Amino acid sequence: MAGVNNQQTHLMLGIETSCDETAASVVARKPDGSGRIVSSVVLSQTALHAPYGGVVPEIAARSHLAHLDRLVEQAMSEAECSFDDLSGIAATAGPGLIGGVLTGLMTAKAIALATGKPFYGINHLEGHALTPGLTEGLRPPYLILLVSGGHTQLVSVDDVGHYTRLGTTIDDALGEAFDKTAKLLGLGYPGGPAVERAAADGKAQRFKFPVPMKGRDDCNFSFSGLKTAVRQAATAIQPLEAKDVADICAGFQLAACEAVADRVRQAMAGFQELHPGVKERVLVASGGVAANLALRDSLEHTCVEAGFNLSVPPVELCTDNAAMIAWAGLENAARRTPDEFTLSARARWPLDADAEPQPFAGVKA
Ligand code: KG4
Ligand code: ZN
Repeated sequence: MAGVNNQQTHLMLGIETSCDETAASVVARKPDGSGRIVSSVVLSQTALHAPYGGVVPEIAARSHLAHLDRLVEQAMSEAECSFDDLSGIAATAGPGLIGGVLTGLMTAKAIALATGKPFYGINHLEGHALTPGLTEGLRPPYLILLVSGGHTQLVSVDDVGHYTRLGTTIDDALGEAFDKTAKLLGLGYPGGPAVERAAADGKAQRFKFPVPMKGRDDCNFSFSGLKTAVRQAATAIQPLEAKDVADICAGFQLAACEAVADRVRQAMAGFQELHPGVKERVLVASGGVAANLALRDSLEHTCVEAGFNLSVPPVELCTDNAAMIAWAGLENAARRTPDEFTLSARARWPLDADAEPQPFAGVKA
């Protein structure tokens, strides 16, 4: 039984607090199934974590707690709506840093309880996976590459609520590999954009870094070997000059892009096996690393070769935001009953319950 009537336009408040962005948003879903962002506010904690070179979970949770109420008020007032106008409240229930997830989830439950509105606990990865439905009306099935600081996955979105994970990282996430490379080379945090800028002046061929997992017949990723190769190259030529840093960044970026393209090619074959009749094949690239232009070029090339179209959501919807959680809440509400208030926050929550767990991949699996 569906949680809401599909003949009306519905508004959902979404809350996202699973990592280092505190976000609230109101999204509308029309009877024809299309969506519209009515308001979306995101407070990034990047500056808070920068001195530590990575996200500090306790600092993240405290900051979510300090700012979330105000951001919810702001999202509601920018949407010019009251709680009465909502069809429900959706919040990320996992996977993520547990203190942060709890903050958002408890806030959503409290609002739902106080207003009598239905509550939906959303898988953060489902938020990313369903974003193309909000931004361009794309309907499943399609293939998604999610590359962020916390996740590196290839998922076949078979239908809303039905996902097949084709590959995941067995160690670091791709964004993490960019961040660690930047830290090693003294480029600051977050490292991805800094590595990309430095790479623009570098010679990618000077260091021949290994292309991790290339040719393997699964679709998994690994970046720890590449990270070690970068460290060894940097250690061997101390002190580093700007030109060395640029060449290392360019070499690292090339190897990372080649690795992703190889894994994507493998996943495209897997997707076609799952959906042999699909003519309009689409690869969606999302997550913070999808902002990288070298990666986009390489994916564009891979798509042309394999007969796929590449779709990349606008960057503010590739990175963490609450509009995707509100939208996933609406898509869930159109298909199922609301969640109970007993629903727990989860540090780990694979989108594909049948996928084999990856013991070293932390919340990324
Ligand atoms: O999706 P996101 O904003 O946040 C989470 O991970 O939750 O992704 C952030 C990650 C960071 O690791 C950052 O270094 C990486 O995305 N990133 C990039 C670029 N812009 C952001 N990596 C490579 N090139 C970029 N231009
Ligand atoms: Zn995310």
